[in-house]
Amino acid sequence: MKSPVRVAVTGAAGQISYSLLFRIAAGEMLGPDQPVILQMLEITPALGALKGVAMELDDCAFPLLAGMICTDDANVAFKDADYALLVGARPRGPGMERKDLLEANAAIFSVQGKAINDHASRDIKVLVVGNPANTNALITQRNAPDINPRQFTAMTRLDHNRALTQLAQKTDKTINDIKHLTIWGNHSSTQYPDIHHATVDGQDAMGLIDQNWYENDFIPTVQQRGAAIIDARGASSAASAANAAIFHMRDWALGTAEGDWASMAVYSDGSYGIEEGLIYSFPCVCKDGDWEIVQGVETNEFSVAKMKATEDELKQERDAVSHLLP
Ligand code: NAD
Ligand code: LMR
Repeated sequence: MKSPVRVAVTGAAGQISYSLLFRIAAGEMLGPDQPVILQMLEITPALGALKGVAMELDDCAFPLLAGMICTDDANVAFKDADYALLVGARPRGPGMERKDLLEANAAIFSVQGKAINDHASRDIKVLVVGNPANTNALITQRNAPDINPRQFTAMTRLDHNRALTQLAQKTDKTINDIKHLTIWGNHSSTQYPDIHHATVDGQDAMGLIDQNWYENDFIPTVQQRGAAIIDARGASSAASAANAAIFHMRDWALGTAEGDWASMAVYSDGSYGIEEGLIYSFPCVCKDGDWEIVQGVETNEFSVAKMKATEDELKQERDAVSHLLP
């Protein structure tokens, strides 16, 4: 058995965390031989509910759960943390776009970025889930200047998973048959789900569907899926979001599946002409605990326009929070 690692989770008494924490403690994120210490952060009024979650974690008697900390102090939650999942933030309601949350949530991430900078392990891997996730990740990263910007990521894995299922259902195959699908850009309704390089059971995906379905059904369905879940459930996606967070961190820590890639919003190095420093979703391959943007993916005129539109939205979001970007 390895020695325990510290996993900080914010918003730990919220909906997503109610799935997430139990799966982390069960070993689904970091593997069956990796004990974890959960460092759970909440706002003061939610500490009672958090205590209840911790009691349930105790009652699961997870062999890999090596300790728990419940706190309302970010400096305590991020102390020596090896991994951080930043979930704590307000979710949107019906009729809102995710960027409408910018003002409500942005301040949370500057405080937490500073706490990570001052207290976390220098090798910490950070995943931002709270919306608007890409821009919150940018705020966190910019407030943690002593940590490599590559260590701050945002979640588009839920969009990736949604796209896999839409394509599998359309082609009467399973998600196991699909490879090389990409979500580009922002976790928002401007994201670009791209199947130009995807294969379904070894066949070119674009050859199996028609352009009309791709443009007018598939793309908007994936872009709007979060809103469709909110309309149906009366609350934003929770179990599927937690699942995507597990997949994102698992792949980052343990490697992406052989012969495939995953979508991750990461620090742009200028690849594909995307402005350096934005947190933008690219096709990524992970190995030895590190990620790399897949290079040389061909992009046609249609794709370039969509990639640019979502980049432009990220620039606007960044400019709207410039007061929080040191
Ligand atoms: P929720 O309201 O059930 O839980 C959020 C929790 O965060 C609450 O318990 C709240 O007390 C806590 N919190 C608020 N401010 C905090 C702070 N400063 N520090 C620590 N905790 C704090 O919401 P949820 O359904 O769990 O969703 C959380 C966030 O995740 C929302 O912003 C939602 O939009 C986002 N989300 C993102 C994705 C994605 O794909 N990136 C998917 C689903 C949801
Ligand atoms: C989602 O995609 O389900 C989440 O980002 C929640 C939302 O606001 O859509």
